[in-house]
Amino acid sequence: MSKVGYYARKPLPLEMHKICIVQKTEIIPVEERVKAIRKAGFNTYRMESKDIYLDMLTDSGVNAMTNEQLGAMMLGDDCYAGSKTYFRLAEKIKEIFNKDYFLPIHQGRACEHMLALAYVQPKPGSIVPMNFQFGTSVGKIKYCGGDYVICLKEEGFNKQSTDLFKGDFDLEKLERVLKEQGSNIAFVRIESGTNLIGGQPISLDNMLAVSELCKKYGVLSVLDASLLQDNLHFIKTRENKYKECSIREIVRTLSNAMDIIYFSARKLGFGRGGAIILNDEKQYEYIKTFVASFEGFPTFGGMSVKEMEAIRVGLDDTMDEDIIAQGPQFIEYLANELEAAGIPVVTPPGGLGCHIDAMKFLPHIKHGQYPAGSLASAIYIASGARGMERGAIDEPWEDDEVEPYGAMELVRLAVPRRVYTVSQINYLVDRLCWLRDNKDLIGGLHFEKKGPHQFYDALESNSDWPEKLAAKFREDFGDSL
Ligand code: F0G
Repeated sequence: MSKVGYYARKPLPLEMHKICIVQKTEIIPVEERVKAIRKAGFNTYRMESKDIYLDMLTDSGVNAMTNEQLGAMMLGDDCYAGSKTYFRLAEKIKEIFNKDYFLPIHQGRACEHMLALAYVQPKPGSIVPMNFQFGTSVGKIKYCGGDYVICLKEEGFNKQSTDLFKGDFDLEKLERVLKEQGSNIAFVRIESGTNLIGGQPISLDNMLAVSELCKKYGVLSVLDASLLQDNLHFIKTRENKYKECSIREIVRTLSNAMDIIYFSARKLGFGRGGAIILNDEKQYEYIKTFVASFEGFPTFGGMSVKEMEAIRVGLDDTMDEDIIAQGPQFIEYLANELEAAGIPVVTPPGGLGCHIDAMKFLPHIKHGQYPAGSLASAIYIASGARGMERGAIDEPWEDDEVEPYGAMELVRLAVPRRVYTVSQINYLVDRLCWLRDNKDLIGGLHFEKKGPHQFYDALESNSDWPEKLAAKFREDFGDSL
């Protein structure tokens, strides 16, 4: 990471790129914002992007690409089987991950589908221990007749913490599960940049220890490297033992310890797509049969060759400390500014985005009235920024009678890499400060019908609080957007 000191100004995250192509956005008036969120059923997934100023729903497939990536897209060799693009990407993957076999797959969750078909479905009732669950991965495991066990260390559940690697496994728990379940284990899933606990990293030492346990008990270690990019930055900057290693060396050490690696290239490599990479020829041939049936011929696996070329360049970018530092530095800046303003955020700041603790921000809104959903709606009304509810609305129902209330009720403000500037982040902080001072005006939400719902279903506000919030905004801001 380039070291840049300051003389007289407060240090701000400093971009190591210049912006060549831009897209115009607009902020619609607050009254229009209330109409837009009402029309979307107070669910930010249902919004139209034309109504959004800062789209902070996700970092998935929305990171800015480089001129070199866009240029590489024109090299795409479009043919059904054996394209030059496939061999170029395979070579890059071998260079970076030191694994011989690679299957292009159109998205991260499709990789999870292939792995569940290969290793869970043949063993009904089998178990996948993991540091933490992610919706798309456990969805596939359950669909294929298996189940999962969370082995996150206790501190990982602590929303306000100083632990630098909250994504670490509780190794004792993992070993207990491996011992108890024996041959009933399908594989162990290791999620880098643990998404649902706030993009929190897992240390390299912990991943190496998990790999050792997998070897000891004869089970496959499978790394979900979707959020590896941020995690690599954190290993380099937080894990003393590896601070002299290059990012490439860190990746090599990690990759050599893992049996299988898969990723969503919507996050890793700044493109769109995904891949499974591995060393074992037999396993490769086996998984390939599923890829050929469900994704596409195994030299494109449902991906466009243009995207495959962009990923090839994006993987090199992922080895560049300046490039991968940008996301975490912006997130740290946003989280620190919010924390200093008394707004409860998940700490330490992680990757992917800044996560606001909705239960703390809105103590008057109880479970059942969807505090994170209410806060995401209020943030949109106040700023035009779209975040993502990460709480009870998002949680899948296991039992039709009992609504699941997970450990977290968060609003995620994702920070797509290289997309927004510090001034836009400052604007967002300002609007959140206003919301902090007017939080009593924010009310709850409800679903029209009782019982199980999906994360993309519509809700209703419990009162006319959105209109009241907008009226107060108008009073305080005059004719400002
Ligand atoms: N694994 C992790 C850790 C993820 O964060 C995601 C996606 C996937 C797998 C699935 O990849 O979307 O390409 O199918 N996360 C997105 C998000 C959806 O917004 O956090 P995909």
